[in-house]
Amino acid sequence: MNRLIEYMLPPAKSTMAGETDALFYFINVTSFILLFGITVAIIYFAWKYRRKSEDDVTPVISHNNKLEITWSVIPLILVIIVFGWGYSTYVQKITPPSDAYEVRVVGKSWLWEFHYENGTVSVNELHVPVNRPVKLVMSSDDVIHSFYIPDFRIKQDVLPNRYTSVWFEATEVGESVIFCTEYCGTAHSNMMATTIVQTQDDFETWLESSGGSGEDMEPAERGEMLTQRNACVTCHSTDGTRLVGPSFQGSWGSEVPLESGETVVFDENYVRESILEPNSKVHESYQAVMPSYAGTLDDRQIDAIIEYIKTLQ
Ligand code: CUA
Repeated sequence: MNRLIEYMLPPAKSTMAGETDALFYFINVTSFILLFGITVAIIYFAWKYRRKSEDDVTPVISHNNKLEITWSVIPLILVIIVFGWGYSTYVQKITPPSDAYEVRVVGKSWLWEFHYENGTVSVNELHVPVNRPVKLVMSSDDVIHSFYIPDFRIKQDVLPNRYTSVWFEATEVGESVIFCTEYCGTAHSNMMATTIVQTQDDFETWLESSGGSGEDMEPAERGEMLTQRNACVTCHSTDGTRLVGPSFQGSWGSEVPLESGETVVFDENYVRESILEPNSKVHESYQAVMPSYAGTLDDRQIDAIIEYIKTLQ
């Protein structure tokens, strides 16, 4: 039975996962019993009341009160149970405890950005403390995305121009995958992130060190770390492969052809402008789909990324 459950659902790692699963199994098992019972009854009656001879005549039956009440009341009771159960779970899911730790979530094509109370920003990595309610206040910078953590049994649309929220309490230290479950364009299927559940102490240490800002690293090395952490590499390869955007490899110092017919030199200013206002000068053979990193990356971080791109000749 346990193996069957594991096959059907991912591990349950939040306080509300158990109840969600119980309701899911109740609906499934009840439906299965009814399907099975009704199918058997149909086959049995078809056989039992088959036409046996030429002068077999079906009697006229207008109604049967007992039978009709039975087949109305049983489903009614089931539906009321499912409604009541579902409603109480729903109310819990939309009501975060007042002491919940708050994280701002921003969906962009195609990455997830997480902003913490002390100003730390992480991309595609949501750090949370274990055994503590966490409330996510979410919005999108462009199109509709949907935030889904299967292990926690939570899913919520993320919309432009409006906040939505969702909350959970993780019950064990470890990692859980985050998916975008609303088709949002070319790299929708790459719009994945990881929830990293830590002990309260580890979480605070991470938060204080700004998630390891890398200020003590060599600029080019820090740049490489930043391009990974900020999900630049989802769309820009470092080995010349064509992805959603131009590869970083070999671009330094090159002439970038623009749609207007003009060209622009790939230098410090071009990289900086492309990070902060990505759609002002787009390579002619690519689409203008990059999100802005204004407010996400500061000048020192952009310097580091420039140094890193320079090394990719
Ligand atoms: Cu964002 Cu799909």
